[in-house]
Amino acid sequence: MFSTQKFQSDLATEKFGKTIVFYEEIGSTNDEAKRLAREGKPEGLLVLSDRQTAGKGRFGRKWHSPEKTGLYCSLILRPPVPVSKISLLTILAGVAVLETIQKETSLAPLLKWPNDVLINGKKVCGILTESTSKKDKVEFAIMGIGININNRKEQFPDEICLSSTSLKIESGKDIIREKFLSSLLFHLENKYTCFLKNGNKNILQVWRKHNDVLGKKVKIYQGTRLIVGLARDIDDEGNLLVETNDGNVEKVSSGELRGV
Ligand code: BTN
Repeated sequence: MFSTQKFQSDLATEKFGKTIVFYEEIGSTNDEAKRLAREGKPEGLLVLSDRQTAGKGRFGRKWHSPEKTGLYCSLILRPPVPVSKISLLTILAGVAVLETIQKETSLAPLLKWPNDVLINGKKVCGILTESTSKKDKVEFAIMGIGININNRKEQFPDEICLSSTSLKIESGKDIIREKFLSSLLFHLENKYTCFLKNGNKNILQVWRKHNDVLGKKVKIYQGTRLIVGLARDIDDEGNLLVETNDGNVEKVSSGELRGV
């Protein structure tokens, strides 16, 4: 089982993860963090579970959360920013996960817009940011992060087996989840503090350097709408800028991206 004691002895943050609410099993850590945030719990509180029975992904999808192999956690944030900046939190989380993987393993991850971290083209991490707002200001945001850490290939269900991977599959090594999580929170706090103080420059710089999207032909599915074009850049708010065949540049704020 995950040792919160070991995690806390490794933790070098000021705020993030200092209070941890741990469950051996829960429906979704995002839902629990939302409940606690509504009760007024402070920024930096982390909900972590060894297993989720109703782990959620984007578009109402399920996040496969088998026991003791992955990290399933949700962080309460109370950023003093307008709602228009909320997508940047997902970009920020991706960058922090990328830097943690670089630091803790010898792997070379890449970022896929808007919320995936890939290794050798396969998904190793997904991020689900949920938020509430008051008068155009973010009231709280829940940054939910799911990372496949020590999963073996045969542990993935058929439908995601080809598209998913874990740090262990890619590196051939067992990863100590407590150490990885404390390192992740350190990187998250660092990026978040820098974001609130200096804006998005650093996050976007790292994202642009380590993405798997820019310069490629993409298809983005938005419900029944499909946008096809060349991914040119991301803008200051984390929107993807896609040049369509007629030469126009579309600002895409959400959707599911696939390569062409
Ligand atoms: C995605 O790729 O669509 C996002 C997946 C996010 C999964 C994490 S696991 C921890 C947190 N709790 C949830 O229910 N979802 C997020």
